[in-house]
Amino acid sequence: MTTLPTVFITGASSGIGATYAERFARRGHDLILVARDKLRLDKLAARLHEESNVAVEVVQADLTRPADLSVLETRLRDDARIGILINNAGIAQSGGFLAQSAEAIERLITLNTTALTRLAAAVAPRLAQSGTGAIVNIGSVVGFAPEFGMSIYGATKAFVLFLSQGLSLELSPKGVYVQAVLPASTRTEIWERVGIDVNTLPEVMEVGELVDAALVGFDRRELVTIPPLHVAERWDALEGARQGLMSDIRQAHAAERYWPNA
Ligand SMILES: NC(=O)c1ccc[n+]([C@@H]2O[C@H](COP(=O)([O-])OP(=O)(O)OC[C@H]3O[C@@H](n4cnc5c(N)ncnc54)[C@H](OP(=O)(O)O)[C@@H]3O)[C@@H](O)[C@H]2O)c1
Repeated sequence: MTTLPTVFITGASSGIGATYAERFARRGHDLILVARDKLRLDKLAARLHEESNVAVEVVQADLTRPADLSVLETRLRDDARIGILINNAGIAQSGGFLAQSAEAIERLITLNTTALTRLAAAVAPRLAQSGTGAIVNIGSVVGFAPEFGMSIYGATKAFVLFLSQGLSLELSPKGVYVQAVLPASTRTEIWERVGIDVNTLPEVMEVGELVDAALVGFDRRELVTIPPLHVAERWDALEGARQGLMSDIRQAHAAERYWPNA
């Protein structure tokens, strides 16, 4: 009998992360659940153990704190049972660019990009060595849309997409699957955490539907999964346009339109 890999999920105390935890428990995976709110994690762990008879460990950590992050990195490096990392913890942005404090900017970027990257970097060498495993990074369609007025949050999510594409190129030849999941508005606490009543949004996906769709993409080993995108060819067109643009980058000379006095 093969043992299923343990799934390490950040931001597992609520929303998308808690739903991933439930779905992977139902599939029979042991879990390591990470977030700051230990009480909520303990409750979820007890319920999932009871319902699905899997081992669920809870690790209380604030991913913006270097000391907490390095404990998690060590665990990801050393624990050979961990085969799937769900890099999900994230916060959104409250207010526009002019309303941001230095501290809020730092926290947002640290959690959404630095912590996510460091955790992926901690687990990747071991997965590559064993030629198996998966890293799932939760991005957002906001990463495509500067028009949404969430410039810093969107920039962190554009980072997550780019990082995932790059990691996939580097790691998939070594047997490691990388997936970027890009939700749009999803009914979770992220909204009330930034002072928005989710019920005022025109369209919202239920979190179970989002995660189930993301797992369809996961099972298909899709690199970029965008559950709310109804016309898949739009993504293919964007990728085609990007590659077309790259084919017209000539490194040795500036384009004619930038020649002095042109
Ligand atoms: N909901 C949406 O509409 C939507 C859309 C696109 C993308 N996303 C992305 O989906 C991911 C999950 O968000 P969600 O919607 O499920 O929101 P959520 O319900 O607010 O969950 C966020 C999770 O991150 C954890 N977290 C927050 N700050 C943390 C920190 N400093 N250290 C460790 N854990 C921390 C929270 O737990 P604690 O408070 O216990 O630490 C919670 O478990 C995020 O990356 C978000 O950007 C969400």
